[in-house]
Amino acid sequence: MASVPSLASTVQQRLADGLSAALPDAASADPLLRRSDRADFQANGILALAKQLKGNPRELATKVVEAIPANDVLKEIEVSGPGFLNITVTDAAIVDTLAARAADARLGVPLNESAGTTVIDYAQPNVAKEMHVGHLRSAVIGAAMVGILEFTGETVVRRHHIGDWGTQFGMLIQYLIEHPHELDHSSEAEVSGEEAMSNLNRLYKASRALFDSDEEFKTRARARVVDLQAGDEETLALWQRFVDESKIYFYSVFDKLDMDIRDGDVVGESGYNDMLAETCRILEESGVAVRSEGALCVFFDDVKGPDGNPTPLIVQKSDGGFGYAATDLSAIRDRVQNLKATSLLYVVDARQSLHFKMVFETARRAGWLNDEVKAVQLAFGTVLGKDGKPFKTREGETVRLVDLLDEAIDRASAVVREKAQDLTEAEIAERGAQVGIGAVKYADLSTSAARDYKFDLDQMVSLNGDTSVYLQYAYARIQSILRKAGDAKPVAHRELSLAASERALGLHLDGFGELVAEAAVEYAPHKLAAYLYQLASHYTTFYSECPVLKADTPEQVENRLFLCELTARTLHQGMALLGIRTPERL
Ligand code: ARG
Repeated sequence: MASVPSLASTVQQRLADGLSAALPDAASADPLLRRSDRADFQANGILALAKQLKGNPRELATKVVEAIPANDVLKEIEVSGPGFLNITVTDAAIVDTLAARAADARLGVPLNESAGTTVIDYAQPNVAKEMHVGHLRSAVIGAAMVGILEFTGETVVRRHHIGDWGTQFGMLIQYLIEHPHELDHSSEAEVSGEEAMSNLNRLYKASRALFDSDEEFKTRARARVVDLQAGDEETLALWQRFVDESKIYFYSVFDKLDMDIRDGDVVGESGYNDMLAETCRILEESGVAVRSEGALCVFFDDVKGPDGNPTPLIVQKSDGGFGYAATDLSAIRDRVQNLKATSLLYVVDARQSLHFKMVFETARRAGWLNDEVKAVQLAFGTVLGKDGKPFKTREGETVRLVDLLDEAIDRASAVVREKAQDLTEAEIAERGAQVGIGAVKYADLSTSAARDYKFDLDQMVSLNGDTSVYLQYAYARIQSILRKAGDAKPVAHRELSLAASERALGLHLDGFGELVAEAAVEYAPHKLAAYLYQLASHYTTFYSECPVLKADTPEQVENRLFLCELTARTLHQGMALLGIRTPERL
């Protein structure tokens, strides 16, 4: 493992050297370097510095340039406009840095030296309920953050906070007691996820109907909730059957999503039951929470209802029951005190933002969160239909996630089949799934999470534009070139002069590590998606302007193969972090 400094950071360092040599007092000034279209990089920092020193920016810039020691990275620095620096690096420097990346399994991406432990709360569907597009977003964005953070060296603990507790279980369990064979499986054969969900649906509907129409059943169902909370064994065993049946369904959907969800990481709401009373006691004794009309509440100056009265976070209801907030507060204690988290990340719908704002603030007042431990909600927006309204079926019902995924796979298979030249039916099915699921994930990840986005399958599986299919084809095309290369191997040649599109591709490849670090710190997987799309675009330009296998000299063939291969590896790595496959052939 060798981390490779990017050219941007090397240039930044050279400029900083020049700055401190020319102006010892301003040694800490930031040259403000960024990529530029005019040259390779532009630095604008001298303008602000000159203002601060009341000097002439162009003169200052010239002084800094003269103070930069001779080196073989910088080819040209031009002082331009009011005092910018336009910086061009040598072709050899680009090839050298890429060769160093290629020599490393991690593509030279450094590990974060101040990495800590992040607990990510994501992929949290609810027991006995269908999964919908909101659960899709949490799962997809959460899994991408797991990948990105782990790659930067963070210790990641996954927590799937499934909704497996609540009063509705009284009704479900009581119904099952009175209709004992309703969850029995007809054969010894494994139950499919679909069957499991349809069993649960049937039970849910039947018990709901009874609950709403039969007062005596309602009374029995309520008594059952009390048994459940008291830990009555028979009741708990039945509750467990609902959880198990639901898990069969969840895992089938996660499997279709090509997502690795481990049973040990599923710690649902029920997992914190033992802590709830103590959480409330601590909050009440410390005065963070107060009794108000019998309920245990936390108040906030800036959280008020429409009537102007403060809206509290209710930690314990007046009937003694604990709710969603008590569970989340207990989960924070567990994650901080037992799991030793330094960051808590919640990938949850933006419509729960007020809940998390109040929960985090309460935890801060209680001292569970502080300067060493932070909590962040990575809030995501709503999935909209093509009409721009929240995604619903024509009948106004929530769209079943499985149906959507199946449709995406069907569409993608059609695209793959149309392009397929030498693929068998089995291969088309496999690629169809990889392309279809990739398309759904990428569409979700390529817009910033906070924004709503339109679920448009036609656009998602399109070969042109910002789609995963475009990226997957770019990858497969490179693999096909590498296969056709025969004896010619990818080799870096630092003595060659590079075409403009080779330089652009090379500089973009060199920025991978910095981009990953940025996506990790900002919890912004969409930045990685955007980077990969630009990478594929740079590659497309390079490919149309620079013949690879028919280049002028054997060295040039090798060097271009080298660029191709590094592009493929970077695409593959980046897509893998996002949870998207890159088939070798398409
Ligand atoms: N199960 C919840 C839902 O479907 C999401 C849980 C979010 N996580 C949490 N710690 N509250 O909306």
